[in-house]
Amino acid sequence: MFTLHNKDVREIIESLKHGDIDVVFTDPPYGIEGSSGKINLARGKGNYSSEFEDTPEYIEKVVVPIVKKLISVCGCVVLTPGNKNFSLYPQPDSFGCFYQPAAVGLQVFGNLDAQPIFYYGKNASKKNMGVPCSYQLTEKAEKNGHPCVKPIKAWKKMLSNISLVGQTVFDPFMGSGTTGVAALQLDRNFIGCEISPEYYSIAEKRIQSAALQPSLFTPSNNRLHPDVGDSPAQQALFTPEADTAEGKLPAPAPPQVKRTVRPPLA
Ligand SMILES: C[S@@+](CC[C@H](N)C(=O)[O-])C[C@H]1O[C@@H](n2cnc3c(N)ncnc32)[C@H](O)[C@@H]1O
Repeated sequence: MFTLHNKDVREIIESLKHGDIDVVFTDPPYGIEGSSGKINLARGKGNYSSEFEDTPEYIEKVVVPIVKKLISVCGCVVLTPGNKNFSLYPQPDSFGCFYQPAAVGLQVFGNLDAQPIFYYGKNASKKNMGVPCSYQLTEKAEKNGHPCVKPIKAWKKMLSNISLVGQTVFDPFMGSGTTGVAALQLDRNFIGCEISPEYYSIAEKRIQSAALQPSLFTPSNNRLHPDVGDSPAQQALFTPEADTAEGKLPAPAPPQVKRTVRPPLA
């Protein structure tokens, strides 16, 4: 089951309540104009589409308050803050990294060969013994039109270590939807939000396609079918109109993909 929003996540975050989600797993903007190096920027590579300013100020004023809100309502928040602006984030409870032995750039002191991973709260899988906080990364991410796609195998490995089958994973900055693909392939529920219509549409296609793939854990291989694993409560996940406390739920109508679109910019 998945729900996708094409919105600024600030528009929906206030409706998020304790218990709506089990895990936040996200790769926020890094405050570096969507690219990891001056050479790439100079060559016009890797820039984001223009829905937001990917600057340190944006991280501080927009991204960090979103992360703080999520930490306040969800007991397990895992994110990759990038190398340049991680000091703007609240201090994590646990720390790890993606170690990239092949190095992906050059820093003042040497190679850029690791990306930080920040962990807040507790592991939603209720395990921590034997669970790594760092991962060696040798895999290349797919090219799909987004400037900073995360590699799917590594992303799945991490998600499988921090969550359980059937739990609900939220990615407020889903980009091209790698977290959603990983979640569905691992039989987690997924809620994703992306501000850019261009990236949203890439994510929507990838996630729909992942939902149609055979799964090791579900009896049916067609999770878009309205009769399979589709309940009113699931439909209502993380929507302001849901009122599970009084048993009032929105009409159990397919389709299973919830698409919300931003109004045009003034
Ligand atoms: C680092 S990228 C995520 C890439 C993703 N991990 C992937 O594999 O494709 C961060 C994304 O956050 C989106 N974003 C930035 N500000 C946002 C906001 N306020 N609400 C929702 N999405 C936002 C950007 O458009 C960008 O696609």
